Amino acid sequence: MALLIRLLLAWSVLTPPISLAATLKSLETLVADADAGVDALPMPLPPSLDPWYRAPDDMDWEDSDPGTVLKIRHAPRLNQTVGNALTAYHVLYRSTDSEYNPSWDVTTLFIPLWQYRCSASAPALCAHALLSYQIPYDTCNVDASPSFGLHVGEPYGEISDALSLGWFVAVPDYEGPLASYAAGVQAGHATLDGVRAVLRVAGLFGLRTHVTKVALWGYSGGALASEWAAELSVQYAPKLNVAGIALGGLTPNVTSVTDFINGRECAGLIPAGLLGIASQHPAAMNWMLSRLKPTGPYNAATFLSVRHLTAAQSIALFRYQNMYNYFVGGWWDIHVPRVMRLMYDVDGYMGYHGVPRMPVFVYKAIHDELSRVEDTDALVNRFCGVGANILYHRNTAGGHNQELVNGRQRAFTWLASILDGSYDTIYSAMGCTIVNVTYDLTPFVPWD
Ligand SMILES: *[C@@H]1O[C@H](CO)[C@@H](O)[C@H](O)[C@H]1NC(C)=O
Ligand SMILES: *[C@@H]1O[C@H](CO)[C@@H](O)[C@H](O)[C@H]1NC(C)=O
Ligand SMILES: *[C@@H]1O[C@H](CO)[C@@H](O)[C@H](O)[C@H]1NC(C)=O
Repeated sequence: MALLIRLLLAWSVLTPPISLAATLKSLETLVADADAGVDALPMPLPPSLDPWYRAPDDMDWEDSDPGTVLKIRHAPRLNQTVGNALTAYHVLYRSTDSEYNPSWDVTTLFIPLWQYRCSASAPALCAHALLSYQIPYDTCNVDASPSFGLHVGEPYGEISDALSLGWFVAVPDYEGPLASYAAGVQAGHATLDGVRAVLRVAGLFGLRTHVTKVALWGYSGGALASEWAAELSVQYAPKLNVAGIALGGLTPNVTSVTDFINGRECAGLIPAGLLGIASQHPAAMNWMLSRLKPTGPYNAATFLSVRHLTAAQSIALFRYQNMYNYFVGGWWDIHVPRVMRLMYDVDGYMGYHGVPRMPVFVYKAIHDELSRVEDTDALVNRFCGVGANILYHRNTAGGHNQELVNGRQRAFTWLASILDGSYDTIYSAMGCTIVNVTYDLTPFVPWD
């Protein structure tokens, strides 16, 4: 820790002053407080029980700009559960929910091991890349948020791989305090504001923020957050420069996904998704709750139990079930009523809120069994028709889970070119390149 405090002192001299609302604590104070408590911190409580996961009640945080840092705490165990991390911090920041009310989210900032070489006298050895990595957590249970879940390890080893390249890595709880799984606007705002918050604070840990390039990456539920960030950035964060975004296993249309997976292996994502997205839309939530059957084999209590499950647990519980059976009016109840359609129009369909201004890498298994490849084809075509710069790999091999592994190396290679500035010399920086590829690194075991 002494090392970090040294870094901090050295760099706070070099970091330009940051303007904050007068009522907010300075970043230096927040970080110093976080570091002072380092040895005293026990294993954190889950977010639903941990009072740290709350907006500060002693300040007018709603009036601060989106991305303003409201709280920081050291996360002392995360450098043991995630490889190649020097240390990690939780950052709570101001954001905006799907209904455009002030809200807050938490991101976990990992500082790469290599950063120990960084000092004010050796700035060339200091990191100058930030990856915002959106983990697919796919649940409406706030206690499955990454900031907490990472204490038992990371699911895919990708944070550790990114840290080994010397990148700062931020992992936002993009579903927010209500665990709004599948709510696009909430997730996009949380992702963009997480980057803004980290860029405000990371200079204190030696990130060379004035030359830092930022990339976003996500697969599946993580791609949902990343894609919405790309769409919304034009209007919501016009001054934030995101250099590139990698999106694997996209799910562009939530109602299409619902119909596609209903009655199949991963039907359990449906109750999690419906309760998640509706947490941003009280009228739709009240409607759904009023339409769940109170008794019988397909009853409300079973449906609502996903609020306490992880994604894997809900998939196991609802495997092969017809989820429309839980509703008095069946399929109609969750597709046709006006309150439901309004909700999907705001939060459920990619491609209608803006066009990505940065290069995008899209990779998708043609035989993806969670979301039809045609939906992703349509989204890519839509963006390409209005000047986006996209490389789109359609993989002939594997399905949804396999493409996470099959696409990993391609995503890393592409992201590295974005973050080291070599993108234009390797990839086409104009228009769209759509190719069928075959990468078959992992056995295809179809879900159904
Ligand atoms: C984690 O960081 C703490 C300081 O915050 C340090 O004392 C400890 O050795 C680190 N653990 C690992 C495994 O790097
Ligand atoms: C989403 O998918 C549904 C079902 O396939 C389709 O009817 C609808 O038109 C799609 N919506 C958008 C906005 O693409
Ligand atoms: C890719 O494969 C699809 C069939 O999935 C085919 O229709 C399409 O023409 C192919 N595209 C290219 C660019 O070869």
